[in-house]
Amino acid sequence: MSSSSIKVFSDINELSHFAAQLFSTIAAQAIANRKRFIVSLAGGGTPITLYRLLASSPYSQSLSWEKILFFWGDERCVSLDDVENSYHQAYQALLGKVPIPEDNIFRVKAELTPAAAAIDYASQLQTLAENGMRWPRFDLVVLGLGEDGHTASLFPGSDETNGVASMAVTANYQGRPASRVSLSSNVFNSARTVMFLVTGAQKAVALAATLAGVREPDNLPAQRIMPIDGNIIWLVDVAAARLLPSVIDGLIIQR
Ligand code: 6PG
Repeated sequence: MSSSSIKVFSDINELSHFAAQLFSTIAAQAIANRKRFIVSLAGGGTPITLYRLLASSPYSQSLSWEKILFFWGDERCVSLDDVENSYHQAYQALLGKVPIPEDNIFRVKAELTPAAAAIDYASQLQTLAENGMRWPRFDLVVLGLGEDGHTASLFPGSDETNGVASMAVTANYQGRPASRVSLSSNVFNSARTVMFLVTGAQKAVALAATLAGVREPDNLPAQRIMPIDGNIIWLVDVAAARLLPSVIDGLIIQR
C-alpha cells in the first residue's frame, strides 16, 4: 500500500527539524524490524540543514549509527575533497561527526570514470540486495527537486529504459559538475519511504508542475518517483508551495 503526503513548513529550519525527527523514527523502526536502516542521501544544498541536525543533539546520541547504512541517490564525479562532491558535503555536515563505521558508508567512487563508477555502484548495491533483487529496498530515500523538475541526477529527457540500478549521466545544471552517477527511478521506487525536501520560491513552478501539473515524467523526472509499495512524503516550505492548489488528487496539503 502506497501513500503520499505533503507538509508545508514556514522555512527550511522548521522543515529540517521535522525531517530529522522523521529520519530518526524511520531508522528506529527499520532497526527494530530488520536490524539495520538503509538510507540514500541527496546532494545539493537543501538537505545540509537536516544533516547538520542529525550530527547534533539529540540525534547524534540517540541514533544507532553502527546499524545505519548510507548510500547516495546520485554523485557528481569530482574528487572526494571537492566541495561539489555530495559525499564530501555529507561528510562535512554529518558523517565525519558521528561514529559511523567506515564499512557502513557506500559512496560512489567518483575517482573512476562515470561509466565505471556506475557499474561499481550497482555491484555495491547488489551486496545488500535481498529476495532476488539487484539492489536493497531502501528504508528511506532523501531527494531534492531541481528548478527544472529533476531529482537525483534524473534530468528532463533522460532515458531509463534499460532498468539498471545506477547509470552515468551528463547534466548541465546551475554550474554544478556535469559528469554524474545516478540511481535509477527503479531503485527509488522500491523504497519503503521517499522523502522530498523542497524549499525556496525558485522551486515553486517545478513543485506545482510535478505535483499538480500534467503527467509528463520524461520532462518532469520527479514524477517518475512513485514507490511501488511505499510512502512518498513531500516536505516543502511556504515559498516553494506558493503555487500549489489546496487539494491535489484528493491529497490534502497539510499547512
Ligand atoms: C544534486 C542533487 C540534486 C538536488 C537538486 C536540488 O546532486 O545536486 O542530487 O538532485 O537535489 O538539484 O538541489 P538544491 O537542494 O541545491 O536546490
